[in-house]
Amino acid sequence: MSLRVLTGITTTGTPHLGNYVGAIRPAILASQQPATESFFFLADYHALIKCDDPDRIERSRLAIAATWLAAGLDTSRVVFYRQSDIPEIPELTWLLTCVTAKGLMNRAHAYKASVDQNELAGNEPDDGVTMGLFSYPILMAADILMFNANKVPVGRDQVQHIEMARDVAQRFNHLFGKGQQFFVLPEAVVDEAVATLPGLDGRKMSKSYDNTIPLFEGGPKGLRDAIARIVTDSRLPGEPKEPEGSNLVAIYDAFATPAERESFRAELRAGLAWGEAKQRLVALLEREIGPMRARYEALIADPAKIEAALQEGARKARAIATPLLAQLREAVGLRTMAAPVQAAAKVEKAAASQPVFKQYREADGRFYFKLTAAQGHLLLQSAGFDGGRDAGQWVAKLKKEGAAALAGAPVTAAEGVSADEIAAALASFAED
Ligand code: TRP
Repeated sequence: MSLRVLTGITTTGTPHLGNYVGAIRPAILASQQPATESFFFLADYHALIKCDDPDRIERSRLAIAATWLAAGLDTSRVVFYRQSDIPEIPELTWLLTCVTAKGLMNRAHAYKASVDQNELAGNEPDDGVTMGLFSYPILMAADILMFNANKVPVGRDQVQHIEMARDVAQRFNHLFGKGQQFFVLPEAVVDEAVATLPGLDGRKMSKSYDNTIPLFEGGPKGLRDAIARIVTDSRLPGEPKEPEGSNLVAIYDAFATPAERESFRAELRAGLAWGEAKQRLVALLEREIGPMRARYEALIADPAKIEAALQEGARKARAIATPLLAQLREAVGLRTMAAPVQAAAKVEKAAASQPVFKQYREADGRFYFKLTAAQGHLLLQSAGFDGGRDAGQWVAKLKKEGAAALAGAPVTAAEGVSADEIAAALASFAED
């Protein structure tokens, strides 16, 4: 059973080398793992919170989409889309907004930071705070819950938002779930192994420090010029240099093989000039980035290709979002009036029909079980077991541990049945 990994990229800037090493490259690598389903999206509604310059939003969306595609994201394997192409997300945001305590939002770091700054400056506490900024964690919760993501890779500053998404999900499940878990509780993943790349001045590479190395912007010359500005110590050519702690070496490391790291260190200790070292770094970066840059430029020259890829992603994303939102609307009482159902009768019926496991023996003498949905259709079919006990133990394990027990379970999902439907059916046993 696959793990759903989801992350969003706010579209306010253009990617730099730090974004590539810290986020884009590891995310693309992770998306190539078997048994993971990756969802990557351009968080362009989030961008509107921070930026009211339409041209900048437009440019950034294009640059970020082209960067991910050029860096090797395989859109046939992952769902790559724009948040703003999924109308179900703002709709879910509202449903969640109505169950989110204002007090929870008061505690959000991003909002509190603005209030603190205002207080320091002697302003009204909410000066310059929009409702977009204040409610931002609810939009983010909708991004995540809409696709029932299990894991959300984020920077440390975002962990609180994932915790808020869990809170909101639990509240919604509790209020409207009636024994059904609409939302999976997501977990933040902060990758400690991925080093944060230092910038030109040795501090963390970040737009806000103005110390970035552009990824594609400015072409090969832009890259060379930025590298020329990396700060080093003042040791002269021929003088031994200490590689450890040098930001130039840290950047080199992020692109080099272990053998290359070794020999670069040895050369620096033997007196390699910093100017030479910078040329080596340019060559090393070009090895990885050069081919990507060519793809990036081809994509930027043909943005209709990017648009088509994103439209395809939106189609895949909505195939998941639309049915879930329909269920949620139903759950909160936004129901059709064409076929009114008496609420009470309906609840009784729902209680009577639940997903069931059936164990049985086939003509081949082996023992089997299957899981059928409350509506009667098949969800899971087991393989054959030699003994009835083995089948029974698997049933017990699936009931107890839910979807988590599916990995390794000798079962196959029925055709056309989503992982979510199976997970929800299994979850119904856990609550009994
Ligand atoms: N807020 C995130 C950031 O600034 C971006 C983001 C928006 C996101 N929605 C998300 C990340 C959902 C993970 C999941 O980095």
